[in-house]
Amino acid sequence: MITLGVETSCDETSCAVLKNGNEILSNIVSSSLFRHKAFGGVVPEIASRHCLEQIDFVFERALKEAKIKKSDIDLIAVTEGPGLIGSLLVGVSFAKALGYELGIPFIGVNHLEAHLAANFIGKKEPQKYIGLLVSGGHTSLSYHEKGKALILGSTVDDAVGEAYDKVAKILGLGYPGGPVIDKLAKTGNAKAYLFTKPKQDNPFNFSFSGIKTAVLYEVRREKTINEKFVQDMAASFQEAVVKWLVEKTLAAAALKEVQNIVVGGGVSANSHLREVLGREGKNRGYEIWFPPLSLTSDNGAMIARRGFELYRKGRRSKLTLTGNPNL
Ligand code: KG4
Ligand code: ZN
Repeated sequence: MITLGVETSCDETSCAVLKNGNEILSNIVSSSLFRHKAFGGVVPEIASRHCLEQIDFVFERALKEAKIKKSDIDLIAVTEGPGLIGSLLVGVSFAKALGYELGIPFIGVNHLEAHLAANFIGKKEPQKYIGLLVSGGHTSLSYHEKGKALILGSTVDDAVGEAYDKVAKILGLGYPGGPVIDKLAKTGNAKAYLFTKPKQDNPFNFSFSGIKTAVLYEVRREKTINEKFVQDMAASFQEAVVKWLVEKTLAAAALKEVQNIVVGGGVSANSHLREVLGREGKNRGYEIWFPPLSLTSDNGAMIARRGFELYRKGRRSKLTLTGNPNL
């Protein structure tokens, strides 16, 4: 069975061809990141225009690389939300039109669920697990059992990727902030600055706006913003954020008595998170899942995988399907 995955939720335009839900035949991603850098963040109108310009080309490339014809596609999975409405509408309209033309089913997919599903391509999804979603727009802990998900907690303000991006901006490191802070942190002293863990009524909720403000105050207080200051700040910020993520995730895993912890989203590329959660989790006997680095950022393969899972459960979407920014 051939699934086409279409992802246009933000600044990436991606089409992937997935065979039997488990084998990636192609996964083409066209990013408009370079167009947003000058603005220090994603500009929605530029992102959606890029999606519109790229979608046909990306689709053709995905078919060519997978060595299939349009008529070989059995199912189309498309990001329904959350995301930017202009970008979402491009993918959804494309998927509906193609599905109608070919007379095949199409399914709207939740982008966040797809980030976790990226882990299961070529693997067997565990029956029970804790999901840690860490992306540019969302942060949440969820409990999954037999295909059903329960949100245990989420961020009350900034998402973790957003915090990386904002702190990078404060430190003058450009956009996106995650990869550059990840790299720089390796050269700094992680104990140079200590940040207070935000108190939450729900122990599984997150808050990252306080640490961002704390970094801002340190920058204002500091007279000389030199390389060492930036390195130490990047390392200390990352140390704190990863510590909180790991603590909460392990607490959720203990509460729900799972054996597996599944991580997804752009920040799942973070080397320190991989190292600390990998080590601490293993010490406690958990199996920790991270997607391959090639599938951490937005891509069509994860959408195809999630769509394939839903298809097997009987899900189908109608032509009334539309982009849902707040899904
Ligand atoms: O999942 P994603 O590609 O987009 C959304 O669905 O939001 O995540 C993008 C986010 C950005 O905030 C980016 O800074 C962050 O992922 N990111 C990282 C790393 N690579 C990307 N954050 C920390 N460390 C990284 N290595
Ligand atoms: Zn994403």
